[in-house]
Amino acid sequence: MSQTDTSTLFRQFSIRSLELKNRIVMAPMTRLFAPGGIPGEANVAYYKRRAEGQVGLILSEGTVVDRPASRNDGGIPLFHGDAALAGWKNVIDEVHKSGGRMAPQIWHTGSTRYINDWEPDAPVESPSGLVAPGDPRGVAMSEEDIADAVAAFAKASADAKRLGFDTVEIHGAHGYLIDQFFWAGTNLRTDGYGGLTIKERSRFASEIVSAVREAVGPDFPIIMRFSQWKQQDLTVKVAETPAAIEDWLLPLVDAGVDIIHCSQRRFWEPEFPEIDGENGLNFAGWAKKVTGAATISVGSVGLDKDFATAFSGEGSTPASLDRLIERMERGEFDLIAVGRAILADPQWVAKIETGNIETLSGFDAKALGELV
Ligand SMILES: Cc1cc2nc3c(=O)[nH]c(=O)nc-3n(C[C@H](O)[C@H](O)[C@H](O)COP(=O)(O)O)c2cc1C
Repeated sequence: MSQTDTSTLFRQFSIRSLELKNRIVMAPMTRLFAPGGIPGEANVAYYKRRAEGQVGLILSEGTVVDRPASRNDGGIPLFHGDAALAGWKNVIDEVHKSGGRMAPQIWHTGSTRYINDWEPDAPVESPSGLVAPGDPRGVAMSEEDIADAVAAFAKASADAKRLGFDTVEIHGAHGYLIDQFFWAGTNLRTDGYGGLTIKERSRFASEIVSAVREAVGPDFPIIMRFSQWKQQDLTVKVAETPAAIEDWLLPLVDAGVDIIHCSQRRFWEPEFPEIDGENGLNFAGWAKKVTGAATISVGSVGLDKDFATAFSGEGSTPASLDRLIERMERGEFDLIAVGRAILADPQWVAKIETGNIETLSGFDAKALGELV
């Protein structure tokens, strides 16, 4: 890996009440190290190390809102209840002491949840009782369930602000509950939460964003994460054209989203190469262009393989940042999220800033087994 001028990554960024010292965001990564759903000392220390390592904005692992079946694993932290919120308070206090900024990523896993024995009574819920097209799992949510889920996201956001977090990220990506509403293949509803257009299928998300904005007030920034791909099918595209991206995301920006976080597996891949070529805008680039909102990009920064390989035990070696620098310099997106590289090395950002790249070690899947 050659030495590159990375100063573009170390420019400040601000939006509403949030001020960041650099453009690097720790991507949200589920770790399953919160026994009973309560963040403890090990989780506090894990996030504090990232703040000490100069991460500009830390996004927490997905942490679930107060619905009976909002988790698909018992190791996922809760973002409700006194004990879990006290744990999160310790996290944000220590991150602040080390000069960091942080958001919880608030989440509902929808029907990706299997019925199992750690919470036997909670019904698995989704828009239409499907986990993927033609693949039934759980029950379709009633309008009352939907209203309660919307309120749960608003309550979690109000709690994030009350505990002292700097912003909040709503998880609308990767085929979980909110994304199951976006996806025509899993949203077959015939009431006001379904429909043939992405705008109609965005109503659930739009109600969540409006309720969150109402709960946090005008100054607190709201981030929302989206992906074209789903864990159920990596080839799916919710929006096939730039106009469809506009129909999907602009109403959510109008409802209160400040920063759109566009999840891609490889950040350099153009979203519509048929329009602007192989070096064309990525998903975050198009989102920024059609909505005017700030965006975060992500996907294989500093590593030679994409994250899907991590779950089959594969490692990844350090890769050049040249392509990232070029896209950041041309203003394609505002912030860049980094996942596995920061999971494996809490000092990753500091090493990039000081040019200490000889000591970057890449990502070893063994890192998933501990909180380094
Ligand atoms: C172990 C692991 C857990 C993840 N958990 C989440 C999650 O809770 N929420 C989310 O939005 N994305 C999650 N992701 C995706 C990452 O946020 C990120 O988009 C992905 O790893 C690509 O970035 P990278 O190539 O820099 O690792 C996870 C990824 C990994 C490797």
